[in-house]
Amino acid sequence: MDMQIEGIEIRNYRVFKHASLTSLPRLTVLVGENGCGKSTLFDVFSFLKDALTQNVAKAVSKRGGFRELISRGEKGPIGISLKFRETGGRLATYELSVAQKGGAAVVDREVLKFRRGQHGKPWHFVNFSRGHGTAVTNEAMYGKPGATQQRKEYVLDEPTVLAIKGLGQFREFRVVSEFRNLIENWHISDFHIADARPSAEEGYAEHLSTRGDNVAQVAQFLWEHHRDRFAKILEAMKRRVPGVDSVEAKPTEDGRLVLRFQDGAFKDPFIARYVSDGTIKMFAYLVLLNDPKPFPLLAIEEPENQLYPELLPELGEEFRDYARRGGQVFVSTHSPDFLNGLGLEEIYWLGKQDGFTTIHKTSENRLLKSLVAEGDLPGSLWKQGLFRNARST
Ligand SMILES: Nc1ncnc2c1ncn2[C@@H]1O[C@H](COP(=O)(O)OP(=O)(O)OP(=O)(O)O)[C@@H](O)[C@H]1O
Ligand SMILES: [Mg+2]
Repeated sequence: MDMQIEGIEIRNYRVFKHASLTSLPRLTVLVGENGCGKSTLFDVFSFLKDALTQNVAKAVSKRGGFRELISRGEKGPIGISLKFRETGGRLATYELSVAQKGGAAVVDREVLKFRRGQHGKPWHFVNFSRGHGTAVTNEAMYGKPGATQQRKEYVLDEPTVLAIKGLGQFREFRVVSEFRNLIENWHISDFHIADARPSAEEGYAEHLSTRGDNVAQVAQFLWEHHRDRFAKILEAMKRRVPGVDSVEAKPTEDGRLVLRFQDGAFKDPFIARYVSDGTIKMFAYLVLLNDPKPFPLLAIEEPENQLYPELLPELGEEFRDYARRGGQVFVSTHSPDFLNGLGLEEIYWLGKQDGFTTIHKTSENRLLKSLVAEGDLPGSLWKQGLFRNARST
């Protein structure tokens, strides 16, 4: 079983004064009017990554400082809580809250705990506040019959560093390292067509970068080491984009790598610089989604841009497939066609009330459920304004 985030609760983070997403499926799609918090949710993922790989002070100052980041009118702390299922199948919660102390952001509280199981009390693996706290010293005993937790006090070098990073012994502890790994490796896509067009330095890349500027290298990697995946990409390109019969990543004499798109109607291929926006975008998505080792969490904003509407339900299926192969996918969209390819349980509707986000699970709305059961499609129900009444969570 792969690790999966099942719930997210956010407090005082910009437009999220208090919002939560529960029972998250492997593919989660966010829809809602401009300014309702879709990009902000993705930024919460980036924030955690910055906090872990750097520290909370840097993560906060990168976002304009504490006063800008905190929900308007609130004092704090800023809180993010993630419920996740680790690969052993147990449910754990990670809570981080960030406060301001003398002008700098510090960890107000950091807790990693398992839910109360059959074996008595939940263990608090990490329980820290402002650089001081306790951690379990016999992690490996968790879940063993009769085991009780042994704790020790620690002081971290800095109150801005996360204990799950700063405490050496957790490097050996599977659940903490899994969790850290999840955060460090999540991929918040920021694809720019202009970056994917030029020829790239020759080199080696297995995974598409956030901006997509190494797409030629990854295509070459797939062609060389995962021919079956590459064949799937080509087959999909041929079927979806008229005039694309084959694509190859070709080294040039001056040591660069160029993507070449072959149209059967002409003798010479077109290099990436001269094919259409949608062609590049579809190819980049296929390269990303056919990654033999999916990112544990992939977030993509508005995948519909530049793509022909009819292709979107199939793209949705590909996101789902990617998630099934071991990742978890979050997508934001403004496209009814994309929504039409989804189930209600995959769709969360974001609204805004008195300046702050409210999150609604469309699958909890009886009317929506019965209409979909009768054959209505989610995208058309959304366009009719019916998501607005979905129940708040
Ligand atoms: N500190 C804050 N407190 C309250 N609201 C804030 C704060 N900082 C930013 N906002 C608001 O949060 C919203 C940000 O929304 P976000 O960019 O996440 O929307 P979106 O759903 O991605 O919209 P779009 O569809 O336009 O991309 C804006 O309305 C912005 O004014
Ligand atoms: Mg946005």
